[in-house]
This record gives sequence, structure tokens and C-alpha cells, in this order.
Amino acid sequence: MEIGKTNHGLRGTVKIPGDKSISHRAVLFASLAKGVSQIDGFLEGEDCLSTIACMRQLGVEIDQNNDQVTVYGNGLDALQEPARVLDIGNSGTTIRLLMGVLAGRPFSSVLQGDDSIARRPMARVTGPLKMMNARIDGRQLGDLTPLHIRGGELRGIRYHSPVASAQVKSAILLAGLQAEGVTTVVEPHKSRDHTERMLKSFGISVRSDEHSASVQGGQMLHPVQIHVPGDISSAAFMLTAASIVKGSDCVLENVGLNPTRNGVIEVLEKMGADMTFLNERMAGDEPVADIRVRFAPLKAITIEGGLIPRLIDEIPAIAVLATQAEGTTIIKDAEELKVKETNRIDTVVNQLKELGAEVVATEDGMMIHGPVRLRGGEADSFGDHRIGMAMALCGLISDQPVSVNGTEAIAVSYPNFFEQLEELKMND
Ligand code: S3P
Repeated sequence: MEIGKTNHGLRGTVKIPGDKSISHRAVLFASLAKGVSQIDGFLEGEDCLSTIACMRQLGVEIDQNNDQVTVYGNGLDALQEPARVLDIGNSGTTIRLLMGVLAGRPFSSVLQGDDSIARRPMARVTGPLKMMNARIDGRQLGDLTPLHIRGGELRGIRYHSPVASAQVKSAILLAGLQAEGVTTVVEPHKSRDHTERMLKSFGISVRSDEHSASVQGGQMLHPVQIHVPGDISSAAFMLTAASIVKGSDCVLENVGLNPTRNGVIEVLEKMGADMTFLNERMAGDEPVADIRVRFAPLKAITIEGGLIPRLIDEIPAIAVLATQAEGTTIIKDAEELKVKETNRIDTVVNQLKELGAEVVATEDGMMIHGPVRLRGGEADSFGDHRIGMAMALCGLISDQPVSVNGTEAIAVSYPNFFEQLEELKMND
């Protein structure tokens, strides 16, 4: 896919597609509830479709019509042993959350995904689940897929996670719902809290504060109606595009602004972006707004510490922003980037360099000097949706177009990314 400059800027209004993290949880939790749950605004990305496919293999009836999903849950106890390997595709959230569910089920299942999943660490989840009594095995003593789980009687634990990870926290809490006693997860920084918010709407009592979340075992989920807000991680690419392309003036509708996810907004504000928040409201348990964003000159900042988990998925987009900001943007404390769909320190730095950016990789992040005129040329997603989108944005401002290989990966989280970008370019 080749992406080139626009004449005057990006203009118009687009509706940001559903939040990936929330869509996964909506299908998964509704599958555990007894009764019919309705979901609207569901993200039809490949990752979330993998979650639906896995829940169907576990015996749950699910109807999906575009962004409308109906889940006919029969309760946790009705889940059935899958006849075949559960294929989780490229989705880290599917495999890690599902492990928490399967850890307490009295049957055997095997989980496997694509080549990227096969490289990603699973011991951060299998370790604590084993402490709870689950029997899990896999390559490298249960760190790598394929994973085999034989669930059973679990006991509650108090677990201090070394990483701020919502996938780890959510898996342990889902196992905790099936465990004897109380299960608590303590984190170094608060990770996204969609699980805590949504479990509450399913009738579960969850105690949470700045660093921990707890559930008591044996609680039942009750069906609900869920409205999925737009994904701020997807919006981040359009916020970036409009901020760096001269003359842009766009409205992004339906952007989820959960405080554990809105680090990119804080960063954009500090960098000097021009954003106005319109129509602030709630979509179920989650705050949402429309954002008007216009081109603005940007300045470099340092991004570190507790801010990192609140914007970890947005770093590829932020790195592109930083190439156009005055000064040196420093991103640190972000080692977690190394274990995403690709090693995103390497892929972001190498790909941006290819296109003419001045970027240096560090042990726990990167340093980006700006503003620079990007040359353009060839880039690759390396099968990572967010790398594909970040590189596409470079084409909007580089001297020569950017030709991105492997753009099919973008369907994981933002299937209509290019359509929406084209729409904004056409109003130019
Ligand atoms: C997610 C949590 C984050 C994030 C991922 C989605 C989730 O991963 O990067 O895209 O839905 O819980 P970690 O839990 O590994 O931080």
C-alpha cells in the first residue's frame, strides 16, 4: 500500500471503531454469564473475532452482525471441553484472558496462535495461575505456546505482578472468580481497568484502588447490555495524522477516554497539540468524547514512569509525532515494548530510520530528534498492525510516498483505517 502527501490537510469527521480491549472482555464475560447479553459498537477486528471463535469452540452460542453481538451465555459451568486446538490468531488478549477462565475449568484445552504469539512470553500469566493450582504446560516450561491447560480446583492468591499488565491482572481475576477465597493482584503501576469496570456491570463485586484489584471466588456473572466506546489506541493514529499534516481540521467521534488509557491525550497536550473535546458523555461504564483536532506546531517532551502503561500501545504513533516536534523526545521505562506483537523498540526505530527520521533505540525506549523532513520510501509492518499504521502516517508528510508492506496486519485492530484516512484526505 502506497501512502502519499495531501494537498492541504486532512479534513472531515470519522467515527472511531470499537475498543479492542473492551470488545474482547464484552464477549468473554458475556460468555460466562447466565443469560443473553447484547453488545453494540463491537470491534470487528481479527483479534476480537478470534475471541468469538474460541468462545464458540467452548460451546457458547454467539450471533455477530457487524458491530452488534448477542451472546447466549449459560454460565461458567456450561463451558465445554473444546474438540480442537483453540486458535487465538495474533491476539495476546485472547490467549491471556482465556487462560484465566480455563484455569478453573475441569477439562483440557490447548491454546495456540500465529508466529508472533509463539514468541511472546506467557509465564507472566501461567506462573501465577500455577500458584493458584492450575496445571499448565507449554514450551520453555509453560512460557511459550502451544499451551496445554487442565483446569480444576483453584485457590485464591495475593499476587505482586512485576509488570503493569492488564492481561496479567485480568487473567488472575478471572481465575480468582473460580477460586477458593479472595484473589488480589498488586501492580507496580495501574494498568487499564476495563476488567474491573465491566465485571462490576456484570454484577461482580470487585475491590480496586490505585495499585490493586481483588475478587472473592464463587460469584456469578449476570447478563447485561454493553456499549463499546471507540478505541483511543486507534484514534491515536488519526490524532497524530491531523496534528502533523498542515491545514488539518478533523473531528474524531466516539473516542473512549478511560483515565487508565488516556496517556496519549496528556502527551499531545504537553506537546502543544490543538484538541477540543466535544460532547463528553458516558458509554456504559466508560467516558467518551468527540475530539476536534487541528494541525499545530509540536514540541518534544519526556515520557516515562506511570504514564507508560497508560499509552503503551500508542508509542508507535507518538514516535511519528515526535519526528515533527521541536527538540528531543525521550521515551523511557518502556521495556514492555519489546514483548508486543513485535519488539516495538526495534521495529519503530528501524522503520522510522529507513524513512529518514533521527531516532536512537535505548535499553528501555527511544530518543527521537525533530523536526525532520522524512524522505519516504519502503517500510514494513512486520505483521504488527500498529507498526503498519505508524509507517502509513509517515507517507502523509514525507518527500516521497511511503510504500508499506504487510498492511493486511492492520485488520487486527482497525479494519477501516485506510478507508477513513482516504475519507479525510478527500475532503482536502
Ligand atoms: C491489553 C493490555 C495491554 C495492551 C494490549 C491490550 C488488554 O497489554 O498492550 O494491547 O486488553 O488487556 P499488557 O497487558 O501486556 O500490558
